[in-house]
Amino acid sequence: MSNPPHLDAAALFESPLARDREAGSMQRQLHERLKRAILDGSLAPGSRLPGSRALAEALAISRNTVTATYEHLAAEGYVRPDRQGTRVIELTSPALPRGLGKPAGAPATARRLAGIKPSTPFTTPDAALRPGVPALSHFPSAAWRGALDRAMRAASPATLGYGNPLGEPPLRAAIARHLAIARGVRCEASQVVIAEGAQEAISLCVRLLANPGDTGWVEDPGYRGAKAAMHAGDMRIVPVRVDAEGLCASAGDWQKHPPRLIYTTPSHQYPAGAVLSIARRLALIAEARRHGAWIIEDDYDSEFRHTGEPVGAMQGLVDDAPVLYIGTFSKTMFPSLRLGFLVLPRQLMAVVQTALEEMLRGGHRHEQIAMAGFIESGQFSRHLGRMRRLYRERQQALRLALTRHLKVPHEIDGGYCGLHLTVRLPPQFDDRRIAAEALRHQLAPAALSSFAIQPLPTDNGLVLGYGNTSAELFEPLVKRLSQLARAVERSRA
Ligand SMILES: Cc1ncc(COP(=O)(O)O)c(C=O)c1O
Repeated sequence: MSNPPHLDAAALFESPLARDREAGSMQRQLHERLKRAILDGSLAPGSRLPGSRALAEALAISRNTVTATYEHLAAEGYVRPDRQGTRVIELTSPALPRGLGKPAGAPATARRLAGIKPSTPFTTPDAALRPGVPALSHFPSAAWRGALDRAMRAASPATLGYGNPLGEPPLRAAIARHLAIARGVRCEASQVVIAEGAQEAISLCVRLLANPGDTGWVEDPGYRGAKAAMHAGDMRIVPVRVDAEGLCASAGDWQKHPPRLIYTTPSHQYPAGAVLSIARRLALIAEARRHGAWIIEDDYDSEFRHTGEPVGAMQGLVDDAPVLYIGTFSKTMFPSLRLGFLVLPRQLMAVVQTALEEMLRGGHRHEQIAMAGFIESGQFSRHLGRMRRLYRERQQALRLALTRHLKVPHEIDGGYCGLHLTVRLPPQFDDRRIAAEALRHQLAPAALSSFAIQPLPTDNGLVLGYGNTSAELFEPLVKRLSQLARAVERSRA
């Protein structure tokens, strides 16, 4: 119901109530009118409300409506009946100014939010070339429905209650087993924490390990969600460049900005696509140990390897690495499932377990149980195998289309695994303008420069997702992108 206009004290009791159905019942309108008048001070504290008979006559409504409204106001504490009638009570806080409900200026928020920059505009997941979206139309919905059904059939009053705050034990165990085989991660189920996707897992690392003002390294260009999580934890963010071998931390970086947290995507740098070399992995682990820093290893899309030898996770590279391993089912299953996980080093888990149990509440228990069944039955591996083949095909088709039809100078990066390729363009092809133009044609590539905190001229290009786009579409789409890029270049001249 929209707020009625302000009425002075006399009009309050004389101007008629609306008779149309949309305005609500007489009682509701009268209640709202009197309550607002009390809150904005036009009915003064201690003043007496008209007798119910007089008010009913003045407003041409039933006396019962007035009595019921007065009783309602009394029950809420706005008025008090006494021997002389019904009086407005003294509110302990000063009466709110007129125009109640209209904030004086911008709503007050935490200063840290100022550091969180707008991302690319929201587009539907089916917008072609959008990075990070898996092949949702190929998801085996029937098999997943079966897993959910089985979880619900086995449900009991106990499983409808709160579960283990760190996640359902069968899922934690299934993840630990799967990661050992697929990614070389060394862990037990007790080290696995279920989170609402990788994003919540990154936020958890910040909440567990960083104090306000601590330094967090992020890859530049890099994943915006990690920066947002660090900003939200009041961390000081230091961008560290990435090159063809991934995160490239210099001795100066360690000396000038020793980090508490280092966020990295070693198996497929997001968005530039490099694989962190083994030499850099070992050096990063050694330096992190020396400086008491923690590495957050985001292994978001490594299940889809397309070329070369598999590179295992950093987490399993050496014993007791200071690495928190993060994974997600957003790419391997579907993003709205909101299931991801965090693997904590054993000694760290021993220290933070109590805090985690108090901070978290678990939840989505039946989806977690269904996911555990999906993994244990082998359906997950079969689905991954099918998707790996599909993405490999799509990537090859996109590469071919780029080679044949992208008629501007470019270089293709990445492609070792995952769901996107990155195309670098010379600076005269302004990537943000091309991305904005593309969006007008329902294409959603992302501008490479929008991932960088301190963009270099070489950070100009397009991040092209191939997960959600059929192979036969790439030719016409790349031709269109090529025209858009040329138009952007011409409009500059
Ligand atoms: C680098 C990176 N990490 C993690 C995620 C996934 O986050 P979530 O599991 O919260 O959906 C994405 C999604 O696009 C990503 O690009």
